[in-house]
Amino acid sequence: MCGIVGCASREHPVPGLLVESLKRLEYRGYDSAGIAVLENGELQTVREVGKIKNLEAAVGGRNLQGRTGIGHTRWATHGKPSERNAHPHRNRDGSLVVVHNGIIENYLELKHGLQATGSVFTSDTDTEVIAHLIDAHYQGDLLTAVQASLKRLEGSYAIAVIHRAEPDVVVGARQDSPLVVGLGEGRNWVASDVSALLPWTRRVVYLEDGEVVVVRSSEVRIFDRGGRVVQREPETITWSAERTEKGGYPHFMLKEIHEQPSTVSDSLLGRLAGDDYRVVLDGLGLDDEELRALTRIGIVACGTSWHAGHVGKFFLEQFARLPVEVDYASESVFREPVMGQKDLMIAISQSGETADTRAALRRAQDLFGAHTLAVCNVPGSSMAREAQGLVLTHAGPEIGVASTKAFMGQLVALLLVAVRIGQARGTISRDTIRELVSGLRRLPHDLERVLKTAAKVQEIAEVWQGARDFLYLGRGVNYPIALEGALKLKEISYIHAEGYPAGEMKHGPIALIDENMPILAIATRGRTYATIAGNVEEAKARGGRIIAVVNPGDDRVARMADHVIEVPEVAEALSPMVNVVPLQLLAYWIAVKRGTDVDQPRNLAKTVTVQ
Ligand code: M6R
Repeated sequence: MCGIVGCASREHPVPGLLVESLKRLEYRGYDSAGIAVLENGELQTVREVGKIKNLEAAVGGRNLQGRTGIGHTRWATHGKPSERNAHPHRNRDGSLVVVHNGIIENYLELKHGLQATGSVFTSDTDTEVIAHLIDAHYQGDLLTAVQASLKRLEGSYAIAVIHRAEPDVVVGARQDSPLVVGLGEGRNWVASDVSALLPWTRRVVYLEDGEVVVVRSSEVRIFDRGGRVVQREPETITWSAERTEKGGYPHFMLKEIHEQPSTVSDSLLGRLAGDDYRVVLDGLGLDDEELRALTRIGIVACGTSWHAGHVGKFFLEQFARLPVEVDYASESVFREPVMGQKDLMIAISQSGETADTRAALRRAQDLFGAHTLAVCNVPGSSMAREAQGLVLTHAGPEIGVASTKAFMGQLVALLLVAVRIGQARGTISRDTIRELVSGLRRLPHDLERVLKTAAKVQEIAEVWQGARDFLYLGRGVNYPIALEGALKLKEISYIHAEGYPAGEMKHGPIALIDENMPILAIATRGRTYATIAGNVEEAKARGGRIIAVVNPGDDRVARMADHVIEVPEVAEALSPMVNVVPLQLLAYWIAVKRGTDVDQPRNLAKTVTVQ
């Protein structure tokens, strides 16, 4: 949700650095933003409602030169987006300021106690209690005051704090919200994630839950929950800063849609054996014997990742021949899933930080003793570190709030996992593996061809940009793609859209169909083709306007359709990867034509670290 950053620098003023880092964290929330820097013994704070560009303009007008500072970009949880609720928040005399990502669950109880001893609150946020609490414990040492205060907090937090009496000190801490330490020359950082640090350093140390860090320009010291010093080797990030820039595209989302061919190539690197008959997947965390002993697979995820999970279910059932249950992570934690030591729980998450998915993963691991596997895009993220096995999706940093290339990476990763388990269990033939592997090798090329449908998709977007509702229909392995197409459209264009298994249409949604209802039907060849063609006929007979995604040479569905998008024919298991692309493009172009904020749609945040 929110993004935080802090920096202690020996020589360079930090305001510009903080704003630049916040721009790279803006995908985490964009309701308001603020920084505070320590300058000539005083804390100078700048806070603005709205996007970082507003903050940037305000900071630009202040000529601030401080070398120790913190910053925040907000996704509102407690209190509406306003200047008074923008971070950093201060204590009663403004001697310390704090930025926070997470939710303090016992903030009301703490607030009442602090008010009783004279604290005066100036915001509606839960965060402000942290500032007053640290103040109450402060006796000349910020680290000690933070450590004492954390013992009183319940909930999730990543925080950064500075005090006017302690130049060159930023204290950070984490519990259930991510925080990474960046190591530079003459300056060091804390930040919510590595993308904020990429212009300045690639050497990072990930904090664990319960840890506190003291960042100075010349050194970094980490302490565990008990106050003992923690020694941890830095890791080197391989993502480049350019990958977090638009590279000539008008929006990150369009750039990321176009990066999908390389997402596939990168995801396959080192994972296909030269003979084409085997998938090699390091990091699965299970050997062949353990894979053979598996009895069941659970999948937990949210949003787009949940849709990937449903495609994964199809792959795993077909190729690994195991029963698979896909759950909304947010729901699974309130049920009593039947899960044990011979089961595998797969958590799918682009960010690796989604609170619900993380909770479900931990529950499977700690409570049920299941094997766990994270399918994640962010190396070093909480899930990537907590799960027993890890399959990275190698999509590179995804900045657009609407997930596209990470979804592509998830589909490829899940197919590889299914084939790998099938190999160990002897449930997939060499011929099938070979067909899939050669299809995967060709997939980047096929995706390049799909991207050429962009002009056609733009025409369709022009016609239907004013629609009130959209219906997306798919069957089998492409039913989750219908869900995904509908989600993409609603989150960035704000048009109501529903994804439906095409066969279910006649059991209710058919009542919605008239000549104003665009119906996108995924009707590429495969075992569902004949039935979905019948469903399209039913919709057409009720006046529905059909946008059909078909393969070249189609003469049945294409004839009924008002608009046809042709995509290359691939093995059925690979059709979701191909078919999702025009749906992403359609959502993108409709949103552009409606003038919405494509990369940062209203009310959303890229990383959802609250349950
Ligand atoms: O980081 P995660 O994959 O765990 O995020 C899950 C969802 O929040 C995410 O997929 C969300 O639905 C996207 N905005 C979809 O485009």
